[in-house]
Amino acid sequence: MTRSTSTSAEPRSAAPAFDLDRIRADFPALRQEVHGRPLVYLDNAATSQKPQSVLDVIERYYEQDNANVHRGIHELSRRATVAYEEARKKVAAWIGASNPAQIVWTRGTTDAINLVAHAWGLDHLGEGDEILLTVLEHHSNIVPWQILAGRTGARLRYVELDEQGRLVLDDLETGLVNERTRLVTVSHVSNALGTVNPLPRIIEAAHAVGAIVLVDGAQGAVHTKVDVESLGADFYALSGHKMCGPTGIGALWGRRELLETMAPYQGGGEMIHVVDRDASSWAAVPHKFEAGTPNIVGAIGLGAAVDYLSGIGMEAVEAHERDLLAYALDRVGSVPGVRIFGPESQDERSAVVSFTLGDAHPHDISTILDTEGIAVRAGHHCAQLVMKHFDVSATARASFYLYNTKDEVDRLVEGLDEVRRIFA
Ligand code: ALA
Repeated sequence: MTRSTSTSAEPRSAAPAFDLDRIRADFPALRQEVHGRPLVYLDNAATSQKPQSVLDVIERYYEQDNANVHRGIHELSRRATVAYEEARKKVAAWIGASNPAQIVWTRGTTDAINLVAHAWGLDHLGEGDEILLTVLEHHSNIVPWQILAGRTGARLRYVELDEQGRLVLDDLETGLVNERTRLVTVSHVSNALGTVNPLPRIIEAAHAVGAIVLVDGAQGAVHTKVDVESLGADFYALSGHKMCGPTGIGALWGRRELLETMAPYQGGGEMIHVVDRDASSWAAVPHKFEAGTPNIVGAIGLGAAVDYLSGIGMEAVEAHERDLLAYALDRVGSVPGVRIFGPESQDERSAVVSFTLGDAHPHDISTILDTEGIAVRAGHHCAQLVMKHFDVSATARASFYLYNTKDEVDRLVEGLDEVRRIFA
């Protein structure tokens, strides 16, 4: 890790000060110019940049330890298996799971949601059953349930949004959650607006009628400390690439008794106990859900990302992002013609500023900002129901992470001034 080789005399204690310059120095991708300007990377809700420590672990694995896991007696396979399972323990500890066997490696949040839809949904849902989702969801937490509803006859119902893009939770108490509800699925944080959802109230309402709860944590555990056991949901899904880890790796945490009774998601190697001609038996959880050679280096890289974030402390990350968000809402909000979407109260938002600017199409905003070296996402953000709710086809979205600065917010505002000048 670049930090550990720093010449600073400051020792790293258990609760290190949040040193933004040192953190930025850990991310090689931030040290570049784009179109002749220093890069301002504000597309973190899509994917984060990776610290040197994660890149080093990946390189070292391929240079020294590369072998398949759980399959060989030889030294390299032993090393790979140990590192792979150690990474599982790191992710478990990081989200407060007491048992690493409750962490199933997946390709990411989308894969984790599809796993639950298939392995739990196909056996537990039928005609007349209800799945409750929300209008705030990413397509990844809508489409798998539509496919499942089509195959089982279950009905989809939605929690609506208010004018600030918050869930209308009073509807839960007036019949939206009822004795037919089998599953409630909800994002921790909206990728499109940054709305932070009040999970405890939703979980309590779902459990009161015997429904299980899946939390799409793709934008949650990335920015805030999560403790899955005290949260009390039944499944929590996350993606490695949004939290300093590699792409193609994520995790599903599940309640042990649910994982134990679920059917496998896919068949193949690694997930079996015994194979016979007509039938097979399954490996124990979590390997029952991990068919085929897994993304070994992805898991190990995600473990390194957890080490990195733990070394800084999620409380410190969250405090920095809160400060940055307050500044960004104020500065971007004061640009003439800007409309910011999402909750007015900062307590109900995460580090995302989704906006439009006058009549400029968000794609044009993003294109002009790109010429200034500023990366933001524009489009429907895989949340077309949210766009429809606000009667817009797209927004521009600046999304922040631990390495972003107020100077970068100022660059964004300068870029928006340029957009205004061009569209004047
Ligand atoms: N879900 C990611 C985003 O919101 C890709 O940009």
